[in-house]
Amino acid sequence: MKAKTNNTKKQGKTPLYKNPNAPIEERVKDLISRMTIEEKADQLCQDTIGVDPNPDNYSLDNPYCPTCGSVYQFMGGSRNRNKFQRQAVEETRLGIPLLWAIDVIHGWRTMFPVSLAQAASFNPSLTEKSQRIAARECWQDGGIDWCLGPMVEVGHDPRWGRNVEGYGEDPYTASCFAAAAVRGFQKDGRVAACVKHFVGYSACEGGRDYSYTEFSSRALREWYLPPFAAGVEAGAYTMMSSFNEWDGKPIPANRALLTDELRTRMGFSGFVVSDCGALHRMGNMGYTSDPIEQTSEALYAGNEMAMGDGLYRNIPEAVASGKLSMETVDEAVARVLRVKFKLGCFENPYAPELTREETCILPDADDLSLKFARETMVLLKNDNKLLPLDPAKVNSIAFIGPSADEIHPHLGQWRAAAEPTPEYGETLYGVAQKFFPKATLSFARGCAGWDYRPAPGDAEECEKAVEVAKSADIIMLCFGELPWMAGEIKSRRDICLPPAQRELIKALSALGKPIIGLCCSGRALAFQEELKSMDALLWLWQSGRRAPTAAMEILVGKVNPSGKLPITFPRSVGQIPIYYNCHGKITPEAHDYQDLQDEDGPWFPFGYGLAYSTYKYGKVNVKRVGKGLEASVTVKNAGKFAGKETIIWYLSDVEAKFTQPIRKVIAFEKVMLKAGETKEIILKIDPKRDLAYSLPNGIQILEPGKFILSASLQSEADFWYEE
Ligand code: BGC
Repeated sequence: MKAKTNNTKKQGKTPLYKNPNAPIEERVKDLISRMTIEEKADQLCQDTIGVDPNPDNYSLDNPYCPTCGSVYQFMGGSRNRNKFQRQAVEETRLGIPLLWAIDVIHGWRTMFPVSLAQAASFNPSLTEKSQRIAARECWQDGGIDWCLGPMVEVGHDPRWGRNVEGYGEDPYTASCFAAAAVRGFQKDGRVAACVKHFVGYSACEGGRDYSYTEFSSRALREWYLPPFAAGVEAGAYTMMSSFNEWDGKPIPANRALLTDELRTRMGFSGFVVSDCGALHRMGNMGYTSDPIEQTSEALYAGNEMAMGDGLYRNIPEAVASGKLSMETVDEAVARVLRVKFKLGCFENPYAPELTREETCILPDADDLSLKFARETMVLLKNDNKLLPLDPAKVNSIAFIGPSADEIHPHLGQWRAAAEPTPEYGETLYGVAQKFFPKATLSFARGCAGWDYRPAPGDAEECEKAVEVAKSADIIMLCFGELPWMAGEIKSRRDICLPPAQRELIKALSALGKPIIGLCCSGRALAFQEELKSMDALLWLWQSGRRAPTAAMEILVGKVNPSGKLPITFPRSVGQIPIYYNCHGKITPEAHDYQDLQDEDGPWFPFGYGLAYSTYKYGKVNVKRVGKGLEASVTVKNAGKFAGKETIIWYLSDVEAKFTQPIRKVIAFEKVMLKAGETKEIILKIDPKRDLAYSLPNGIQILEPGKFILSASLQSEADFWYEE
């Protein structure tokens, strides 16, 4: 497509929309008044350059930039990006700059922990700081000014691969992280966040990606909407609608959700982009396949931009047919332009073109990636206080397993500009000597492949590993999932360990040596049987470029582990879905399953995580203060190590007019406690926010009655609330 020449310049007088001092609303109005219907349609399309074989793809060598509102998945570097941007700004009639979008989920150059691991830190301030750095890096390094994140969906099924991109199963925790991520991305003003995927995509049946979703209004409000509302409140400029459906309508064409819920109820003022190709795929759901109808329905519903299918180029025809009104089109264009004006795209359309040296990882980013990783890891087992190890007493360690000497298990799936090279990451075996200076270290991979499919050579690798392990005092078992075993279209029908790893663990266990498990994973896994062979288990997730150093610091006691599970770990797939804020069972005394009688309940519950200290909780007290309530509890670090403890406040509404979950998190706070130190933790309860609940129609109600407040399930108090 040939770019058109810039007529506005030739008119002599600078048009109002180009005046940076004019109010945004006037600029938007002025610009829309000058646009043809084709230009409006272009503005609502998001295309690609250099990736994807989709219909609107342009190659990097193409001399012309697509005329569109935004380009996504562009990895061609700032210089190329500016080349295309220059065409949009200087060679089109109206000179409207493009937005450059890409999935920035947990870092750009500096890989931070994946979102699920971030949630395990229960420290959203680290998310805010890391997303601010990610925004700085993607703008300076790639000219990206629209981050397609955070993904804030609450997930209940670990088979679904995309849980790794979200902040766990708890709506409140996910909301805190969603808001922190939005604040971080948008803090410096030149990058927009995109909260996704609105809404309920994680409810896909059986964890099968992109499959049918069935959820009630009640589930919508109790689980799925809160993190999006938090993103709106934090000022997110954009949202992404999801692929799935609700109540008989695909989400991108679901006005009840995109307009009534998102705009009217939540007050979202930005714009919504559809997910990749979602609009033209609506026909696969038994919905209309007619492009004119798809265009009209989606725009009317409140889906302003179309990603990757060029569908909105049908706008002129849709308007001519009478199926779509010009007001709807103008409203959509206004929303997109408003964001461009707010970001300063018109005044500052070009990204810096830095040299390779200038785009190195800066010390603050490196520091933060280490600090963050220290707080994400979860100690799940520590028999006989094997950990922390005293390096002076360790003579030899065998690092065994497929993730022992690899960088990518720590980097996660959406690694943007980072590669699995020493510049971007570390390995466990590679950093270990620094922490165990006197010990002899050895390494063996233990299996040929990683996957759940056995690979040729697995048995030989296993034998070699056993030989290596024989001569060591301690075995560091480095196992779990590779990043590409979780993520989009990475659902699994089972969540057990790959067969080669199971065989390896069995063989190592026969040696009778202490085994410390270091598990990399982007989801909950279930391996009760194999855990019996391990004396300790530290869950590393995929905690970013400095994860190996953080893990070693924990192993030697330089850092006291403080991560807690943001998701429930089932014992096996048969227990899915299993999550902490479930609704009460009619007969709590009955076993869940007749073939699981001794083991009701999860393998590891939400909020679980050991430390090298024991934290002792005093009695929870609740008192009335003005119109609200105030709770307090003392927490003592009764151990010998300083450490951070997260106090998770759970509320149970004992009797209500609508059935209630057994408990739900209403707040959490992470505090540092020196050895022997006691702190009083205060929780201010705002009844309208914390004690109320949503009716299926969205109305919040606050009922007087009895409640139970628990601090980390260690101590609790009953209280009555009356207005
Ligand atoms: C994913 C989105 C992503 C988009 C662009 C889609 O397939 O579902 O999360 O933002 O691709 O990469």
